[in-house]
Amino acid sequence: MIRFQHVSYAYETEQPVLTDLSFQIAAGEAVGLIGANGAGKSTLMKLLLGLLSGASGEILADGIPVSKENLKEIRKKTGYVLQNSDNQMFMPTVYEDMMFGPLNYMLSREEAEQRVDTVLQKLNMEYLKHRHNHKISGGEKRMAAIATVLAMEPEIILMDEPTSALDPCNRRIVINTIRELSQTKLIASHDLDMILDTCDRVLLLSDGKLAADGPAEEILRDQKLLEEHHLELPLRFS
Ligand SMILES: Nc1ncnc2c1ncn2[C@@H]1O[C@H](COP(=O)(O)OP(=O)(O)OP(=O)(O)O)[C@@H](O)[C@H]1O
Ligand SMILES: [Mg+2]
Repeated sequence: MIRFQHVSYAYETEQPVLTDLSFQIAAGEAVGLIGANGAGKSTLMKLLLGLLSGASGEILADGIPVSKENLKEIRKKTGYVLQNSDNQMFMPTVYEDMMFGPLNYMLSREEAEQRVDTVLQKLNMEYLKHRHNHKISGGEKRMAAIATVLAMEPEIILMDEPTSALDPCNRRIVINTIRELSQTKLIASHDLDMILDTCDRVLLLSDGKLAADGPAEEILRDQKLLEEHHLELPLRFS
């Protein structure tokens, strides 16, 4: 479903951020992307969405090369929660943002609204439905961004720090919701307990290279490996 083949990337004249990165994610897999600040997690996600261009190597989403011509098709398959939700919401209200995807997929207004209401109920955030995107809190914005992606029901879900800024209760709601999703998921986070709860496999990125790729339990229990790459054991294992 997702394939990176010998991908390297540098921001303009800067040092390479990703170096000869290769991995594959099969349909239905739930994969955690971990690594220290600046390791390249968000860059990897932005490349997959075609938000950055100029990488060498090949990136495929559901067999389609990520390139300018294919962006529309790829964005239709892929829902994403960016690390900074401010860059994500572009309609005036939470409701309009959530309706945008389903309506774009030719659902009727009633069907789209039904979907929106189901997601809002699931995330326990009906109260935010008609709020203005610029007049809600940081955590509420994060919930709204997640809700928007869920309403799209995309084939691939990318989430960059989905639980940052969330209170414990909303964090738990998001974890439970992610666990129920059967789609292909790639989730970048420093919340390693959340990764443990939601992912079967983990990719550890360090200085733009893959330092490990394996079962989540195994990697997240490996204190030596984590510490070598400026991470710590999840709270559950420490
Ligand atoms: N727009 C940019 N221009 C130049 N360099 C950038 C840009 N965005 C990110 N970088 C650099 O690229 C590297 C990787 O950044 P990236 O945002 O992918 O890291 P990350 O793993 O997501 O980190 P974090 O855990 O802090 O979110 C960092 O060294 C960062 O400083
Ligand atoms: Mg990041």
